[in-house]
Amino acid sequence: MIFDTHAHYDDEAFDEDREELLFGMQENGVECIVNAGASLASLPKILELTEKYSFIYGSVGIHPSETGELTIRDMEWIGEAARREKIVAIGEIGLDYYWPEPDREIQKRWFQMQLELAGEMKLPVIIHSRDAAADTLEILKEWDSHKVRGVIHCFSYSWEIAREYLAMDYYFGIGGVLTFKNSKKLKETVCHLPMERILLETDCPYLAPEPYRGKRNQSEYLIYVADKLAELKGISREKVLEITSNNAKSFYGIN
Ligand code: NI
Repeated sequence: MIFDTHAHYDDEAFDEDREELLFGMQENGVECIVNAGASLASLPKILELTEKYSFIYGSVGIHPSETGELTIRDMEWIGEAARREKIVAIGEIGLDYYWPEPDREIQKRWFQMQLELAGEMKLPVIIHSRDAAADTLEILKEWDSHKVRGVIHCFSYSWEIAREYLAMDYYFGIGGVLTFKNSKKLKETVCHLPMERILLETDCPYLAPEPYRGKRNQSEYLIYVADKLAELKGISREKVLEITSNNAKSFYGIN
């Protein structure tokens, strides 16, 4: 069974057929989904999804690109939402230097504030890090004494960076990019990673795997990522799904 550890079904890309898609999902082999938070606007939608569907859990947090206008009052609201039973993580939070805005210092401030919240709540964190390897690692190393679990979502850095996170017992979110022809670096990193540290994620509606690259992504498509992972690791698709699903359950504390 498929455990999608990072999806965005609150996204407007699903407005047309969200119910239809989600109602059929368990029959199509999807066991569980964690819908990741990204903006303040996504928060009420995520709470609604977790109430409506037994197999959907959620995380709450503000993506670095959305931190420009954030206030302390917003953080209190996030803190309240994080206390809900089906909210299982804080995220996605982190640093994104691909875009010039918001200012890096602003991103760092809210990243640290949200890490503090996760520490207080003893919730795992979902980390978004793009073109910001050194600063992300520095902040997470400082914060490591909290002993809270973390996953590097859509891991895209080198094996050298991966080793640093392995040493801190982090997990690695692996999705559609693994099936892309130009993802040689990621395939090499994945060959080195222990299976026990890998979580499957779609990041849907984005990053659909081959043969759906460029189209709208959905949780069922994770079988293509599982197949690529099975090929790289020399094990069966079933084994990949079993191990990654168990990893996800222990990461999020879901039975
Ligand atoms: Ni995401």
